[in-house]
Amino acid sequence: MSQPILSLKNVTVYQDNNAILTNIDLEVNHGEFLYIIGKTGSGKSSLMKTLYADLKLKEGEGHFVEYDLAKLRERDIPYLRRKIGIVFQDFKLLPDRNVHDNLLFVLKATGWSEKREMDVKINEVLDKVGMKHAATKMPHQISGGEQQRVAVARALLNDPEVILADEPTGNLDPQTSVEVMNLLREINQNGKTIVMATHDYALIMKFPAKTLKCDAGTLFEVVQRTV
Ligand SMILES: Nc1ncnc2c1ncn2[C@@H]1O[C@H](COP(=O)(O)OP(=O)(O)OP(=O)(O)O)[C@@H](O)[C@H]1O
Ligand SMILES: [Mg+2]
Repeated sequence: MSQPILSLKNVTVYQDNNAILTNIDLEVNHGEFLYIIGKTGSGKSSLMKTLYADLKLKEGEGHFVEYDLAKLRERDIPYLRRKIGIVFQDFKLLPDRNVHDNLLFVLKATGWSEKREMDVKINEVLDKVGMKHAATKMPHQISGGEQQRVAVARALLNDPEVILADEPTGNLDPQTSVEVMNLLREINQNGKTIVMATHDYALIMKFPAKTLKCDAGTLFEVVQRTV
């Protein structure tokens, strides 16, 4: 556990052939909670995508959950992603099936087959996020905050070492945002590393943690003002 869970050295993040962020040096240790902030278009999502291999690491060195991002092969990507839970701003639940079946879909897609084991796992993660009662609800029958809780449960299914959350509170009202943050902090306190991109400075003030900013084409740590 002494190795960092994430290490980037002199990385450039590209979208097509455009360098979005350059000279990124970053180390994240197991169990840390880290914010990535920066104005719209500054590269937060591009950085996250590089970590979950939606964008190739073409320049620099990157190690994440025991994978060498620069040497990653297509066939490694599903295994890398099983070590990462990803939470998006827009929840991304499948609208045509209930909460239980949304989670079942992910388990089946990631190699699970034993029905009883899958049901136990689904129950466990829904319980962790306080959504066990909603297993048979369709996504449209629950609120945005509840959908995001289910999305967090989905991210926990394969017991990942780290959660990447890209503006997980971006579609939620302030009170619901705080509830989702409390959930993420609890998950962090139980040992998972969390990297969260956000615009929401009020939330950072409420839940202070190490903060890095994307600005002027690079990434640097900012010291938080305590107001
Ligand atoms: N799929 C894409 N193809 C080409 N360029 C892209 C793509 N996605 C984003 N970009 C460009 O990359 C830059 C960084 O975008 P990115 O989405 O990483 O920013 P962001 O900080 O996440 O912004 P936001 O706060 O709006 O989510 C922008 O200039 C954007 O136009
Ligand atoms: Mg973004």
